[in-house]
Amino acid sequence: MAAKNYISREITEEVRSRNNIVDVISECGVALRQVGSNHKALCPFHEEKTPSFSVSSERQMFYCFGCEVGGDVIKFLQKHEGKSFIESVEWLANRAHITLPARDAKYSARQKRINDLSELNTFAVKYYHELLRTGQHSQYAREYLKNRGIVAKTTKLFQLGYAKTQRNDFVKAATHEGWAVEQLVDVGLIKSEDKGPQDRFWNRLLFPIHNERGVPVGFGGRALSNEHQPKYLNSPGTDLYNKSRILYNLDKARQSIARKKSAILVEGYMDVLMLHQHGIENVIAASGTSLSEEHAALLRRYTPEVVIVFDGDVSGLQAAQRGLNRLIAEEIRVRIALMPKGDDPDSFVKENGADAFTDRIDRSINLIEFQIQAAVQEKNIRRPDVITHVVRDVSGLLVNIKHRVERAEYVKYAARELNVDAELIWRELRDLGLKETHTVSRSSSTRKAPIKKMTIREQIELQFIQSLLQAPEYIPAVKSVFDYSDISQPHLAKIAEMLWHASENGGTVETQHILDNCEDEKLNSAITRLLMSGQAISNHYAIIQGCIKKLINYICQDVEQRERSDTVSEGDDDLEKLKKLVTLSNERRAYVQKKVEQLKQNTEHTDVATDTSGIADIK
Ligand code: UTP
Ligand code: MN
Repeated sequence: MAAKNYISREITEEVRSRNNIVDVISECGVALRQVGSNHKALCPFHEEKTPSFSVSSERQMFYCFGCEVGGDVIKFLQKHEGKSFIESVEWLANRAHITLPARDAKYSARQKRINDLSELNTFAVKYYHELLRTGQHSQYAREYLKNRGIVAKTTKLFQLGYAKTQRNDFVKAATHEGWAVEQLVDVGLIKSEDKGPQDRFWNRLLFPIHNERGVPVGFGGRALSNEHQPKYLNSPGTDLYNKSRILYNLDKARQSIARKKSAILVEGYMDVLMLHQHGIENVIAASGTSLSEEHAALLRRYTPEVVIVFDGDVSGLQAAQRGLNRLIAEEIRVRIALMPKGDDPDSFVKENGADAFTDRIDRSINLIEFQIQAAVQEKNIRRPDVITHVVRDVSGLLVNIKHRVERAEYVKYAARELNVDAELIWRELRDLGLKETHTVSRSSSTRKAPIKKMTIREQIELQFIQSLLQAPEYIPAVKSVFDYSDISQPHLAKIAEMLWHASENGGTVETQHILDNCEDEKLNSAITRLLMSGQAISNHYAIIQGCIKKLINYICQDVEQRERSDTVSEGDDDLEKLKKLVTLSNERRAYVQKKVEQLKQNTEHTDVATDTSGIADIK
């Protein structure tokens, strides 16, 4: 994409080198403490009691040994601040006073327009907020908030505002400040009518709506009396405000969401405010629209789980069905929490307190289970025609689950609850377009691979790759005597393959480039962990040499074992057998020695020799 190209690798590198990761992470509010050559802190990405978050000034990287999140300074901003890659680079460039090249003219013109509109919105937020705080005519609005239990601190944090009863107060104030009527229309605050430009919002309490970066993009306005309709009036969609891309309060909630690895989705502005006021901060709302695909994708950037809180009646659930399926399609775990009849989160938390609310969240139930339960309870499940119907409905849900094992689990669960054969559901899923054939699902207890002790060989391989990552200058020499495919652990072999690959044209391997080009999150995390763990080792070469010696030895032993049966034939007497085995073993030793000598030679020369006679030759 053009946007990604606009930031070249050189720029990314300059931005990285001019922003010390230790400073940036500290500025983001993480309390780092120097321990040895690293800095440590409680991890900002998961709850913990002892610090496993580590920042290396030398490597300019961070890594959490608890939740296995790590990367460079750009990655940190993406994760911690919820910025995109480009936003992070722009932010860091700005911090280091680096001027980024201008994007193309069309882009800049649009960007300027957007900047103007956000500035205008910022002005509007301040204007309405001041009116609410101090305006003579705002007494009633202030009373209203007080009656609803909103305290001054919340009013300030959410920058609530008040629009007066006259219909052109804001037009006057804004044009007086130099804004053009056209701009006021563009940003949705003014409507052009026959009698001239009129304020969109009048006699309403205003909730400014921000994008995830905290830029004000629109307003939601609540009427202060029942007669005044509609109850909530929202800004129209504008260049700045795309309703299906904005989640109310995501800007303030995203850190808490990232930390808790869960977001609470509620229906209304008031729900968000009241929960926040009670210390529950990971709360967002889709203001006045249903949940869109883009909302789901946006949320996925911050959290693997969403708990949706529905008001006392379940009717909202049916309406939300499409949005829910989208969340599932984004591989977000969806849980459902219900409020008692007649309550919404706002009234519930006000009456019962934060603990009671959190308790409801903790007892939320998985969406799929919930829907299967709902289907089972609602209908007369014994009637065959009803069963067919329910199986079809339930299959419609299950087909959205991308994760195979999880899907298979739910097929089993649904079959049990509906008292039908699982094959019936699988058939339905295939009718709905599911391609893959199902294999017998593993039970949930075996889903996580048991932590098994590493063999000595595996430990050596780990040490080997770790040393190579930490001292990549030895890769060309190592490559000439060792084949990456001889590493027995697939993920380490994959990393070695990338390293070998990166040193293709003889230059030094930059581990940062490898990370930049590695799309696989798991591998990325594994590499970062290897880079960040262990003390600073000074004798990489000795370790690498030792590892190679042992690994080649292992590999030869493998080969030997396979060859033994061929070499030592049936008719041989014991002495003959022994002699042959000794010869094999001596050959192996000589071979290993030869490889080590070769490695030594290659390391001494800056020019990389390419030895094609790999281990493969003796296989
Ligand atoms: P509710 O009618 O449940 O209102 O609408 P609420 O949030 O509980 O507000 P209070 O407590 O009566 O003040 C839920 C959400 O639906 C949107 C708003 O975003 C609202 O917060 N909505 C509702 C509209 O956009 N327009 C409406 O006319 C009503
Ligand atoms: Mn309410």
